Amino acid sequence: MPLDRNPCFTGRASILEQIRQALTARGTAGLTQVQAIAGLGGVGKTQTALEYAYRYYWDVNRDEAYQAVFWIRLDTEQALQSGFQEIAEMLMLCEAAVKEADQIVRVVKTWLAEHTGWLLVLDNADDPSFIRNYLPKRGQGHVLITSRVQDLQRLGVIQPLSLDALNPEEAVAFLLQRTGREAASQAAQRAAEALSAELGHCRWPWNRLVLTWSPQVLAFKTISPAIGIAVWTC
Ligand SMILES: Nc1ncnc2c1ncn2[C@@H]1O[C@H](COP(=O)(O)OP(=O)(O)OP(=O)(O)O)[C@@H](O)[C@H]1O
Ligand SMILES: [Mg+2]
Repeated sequence: MPLDRNPCFTGRASILEQIRQALTARGTAGLTQVQAIAGLGGVGKTQTALEYAYRYYWDVNRDEAYQAVFWIRLDTEQALQSGFQEIAEMLMLCEAAVKEADQIVRVVKTWLAEHTGWLLVLDNADDPSFIRNYLPKRGQGHVLITSRVQDLQRLGVIQPLSLDALNPEEAVAFLLQRTGREAASQAAQRAAEALSAELGHCRWPWNRLVLTWSPQVLAFKTISPAIGIAVWTC
């Protein structure tokens, strides 16, 4: 996987459970299970997929764990193609004869169809139009897509899992952890709640914003007086 596990990952227990259930639900025999996480930019789709992948690769017993995880960032169709190329090289499927892009996709899909226990993450699939031909259809593996787009029917996902901002408890836990105040005083707890409520009311995908909180706390003062107060009462 190209990204390290996030040691500050907070919450999302319910969606992680829903992803697991969706991917392991008994579908049509022999067909790959596909599920997607959809939501606004910055809301935490990639981080949730990453946590899912690490959790079910490292943290579970062998029967449940993935044997292989492939992660492709889908900024462009070229990125998807080179992702398949990398997988082919990693699995040593690239014989001298296999050079054409179509052939590479074919050999990777054949490998996936013949193996079990793999997870393929297609991350940031914000333009689903070019993905369909790359999707493995046969095989006992799982495909997890992250996308800002809700309509992913053409990729076989009838109902993507919608990701919203963190809920209030998760948001407070995140703020306190991110600022090193887990053992918080009541004042800090109240300040974190106020800040979280303020950002929640803005419906801001605020995870990204909060990252800049510590140590540049001052930045918040310009956003809202309430946030300024919340910060300064900590
Ligand atoms: N559950 C979480 N716990 C801790 N940090 C998080 C969590 N979710 C997201 N973050 C932080 O928020 C930032 C944005 O999250 P992420 O990249 O997953 O958003 P995204 O929805 O994939 O955005 P985009 O649509 O731009 O790809 C990350 O850099 C990460 O540090
Ligand atoms: Mg993302």
